[in-house]
Amino acid sequence: MYGDGEEKWSREQADDPTEFVRLVERLQADAWPETVLPPGIVHQTVLWFVEAGEWFGRLSIRHHLTPALTEVGGHVGYVVRPSARRRGYATRMLAESLPIAAGLGVNPALLTCSADNVASHEVIEAVGGQLIDTRHGRLRFRVPTNNRGLIAQRGPRENTMVEDDSTQTDWMRDLSRGRIGR
Ligand SMILES: CC(C)(COP(=O)(O)OP(=O)(O)OC[C@H]1O[C@@H](n2cnc3c(N)ncnc32)[C@H](O)[C@@H]1OP(=O)(O)O)[C@@H](O)C(=O)NCCC(=O)NCCS
Repeated sequence: MYGDGEEKWSREQADDPTEFVRLVERLQADAWPETVLPPGIVHQTVLWFVEAGEWFGRLSIRHHLTPALTEVGGHVGYVVRPSARRRGYATRMLAESLPIAAGLGVNPALLTCSADNVASHEVIEAVGGQLIDTRHGRLRFRVPTNNRGLIAQRGPRENTMVEDDSTQTDWMRDLSRGRIGR
């Protein structure tokens, strides 16, 4: 397991309760304006996708763009655990993160993916991403974040968006209420 900043985190650290608390606090602090960050690193809100106590993926929302993020990184980064891929988690994660991004003042969001990253390309388009251009081998998309309650429901053979937040996962509700991060 890895943190998003300079510090790397091992599985052993994550298994240690004291270290785990430190990891969570460290990630929370990344979102706070008063946290001093290394040059070129912006504040970000880190979200974990956890269902029934199982960790499926991570998504981070960068609060601002730097020139480098404008070119290649974008506002949002995400990863789904390899064993949980092709089950719609990335689409759900991204869809459910958009209202949180809007709450942070990010609208529209800039998302990018490598031109050959079919999975990420599909995920971004599934949440309404519109292709802007390609820079440095990466596709850049404009994603409106203010369609509140718009949740992606995706199964193996379907991809529909519904205006219903009843499917919103507990962790997203908690984060939206500010219990984790800001
Ligand atoms: C990209 C990533 C987050 C997608 O996660 P995921 O949970 O598997 O995505 P979803 O299940 O929501 O898939 C959405 C769609 O993408 C497409 N897709 C996903 N994986 C694919 C693959 N390996 N090949 C082709 N298409 C793929 C499919 O159309 C899929 O829908 P379907 O399964 O209904 O056909 C995941 O592959 C990952 O963590 N990759 C490494 C990190 C990364 O690339 N992050 C994005 C950086 S921009």
